[in-house]
Amino acid sequence: MAALVRSSGAVVRDRETMEEILDSCGVTMEYWPVRSTGRTAVLLKENAPGPLEMEAILSEQDHYFERLRESNGYRTRDLVVVFPEMPGLSGLLDRFRAIHYHEDDEVRYVVDGEGVFGFVLPDGDQVELLVEEGDFILVPRLLEHWFRLTEIRKIKAIRYFTGTAGWVPVYTGTPSLFAPETPRPV
Ligand SMILES: [Fe+2]
Repeated sequence: MAALVRSSGAVVRDRETMEEILDSCGVTMEYWPVRSTGRTAVLLKENAPGPLEMEAILSEQDHYFERLRESNGYRTRDLVVVFPEMPGLSGLLDRFRAIHYHEDDEVRYVVDGEGVFGFVLPDGDQVELLVEEGDFILVPRLLEHWFRLTEIRKIKAIRYFTGTAGWVPVYTGTPSLFAPETPRPV
């Protein structure tokens, strides 16, 4: 868990305070080491792996999927790949960036790169959380949140699903308290 930033700009690094803040809005975050042996280690660093390469990356992390399947009933997983030269990237980022919620939990496991999740806290304040390789995050259903990339504009994350209906973002129109180009929390 790298860093959490309050809307005031204050950076929270102490783990206990971070966990307290995340607990207050029901977010779970854990560190799960990424398994990358031989070929997968190379594929993980590629900007745009093809379907077979993506499946190889996914398979290597399936011990986590098995655990989620048994404990929480997750049924499918896929890999989201974002890189700087990706066609249509800015439109995609605008959709992630607007504050929204889902009918289902949003469950992500970052296997390469980094990004920033933002959350609206119960008191209406907002925080941003940096997620990096090895970070597993569960954003609970109905929690208002957003996602943006950092300056490197690169992330690979596994998404876990229990079904298909709950993926749809419901935009709430809540204004963000963070400027669009807020620097990466360090
Ligand atoms: Fe979302």
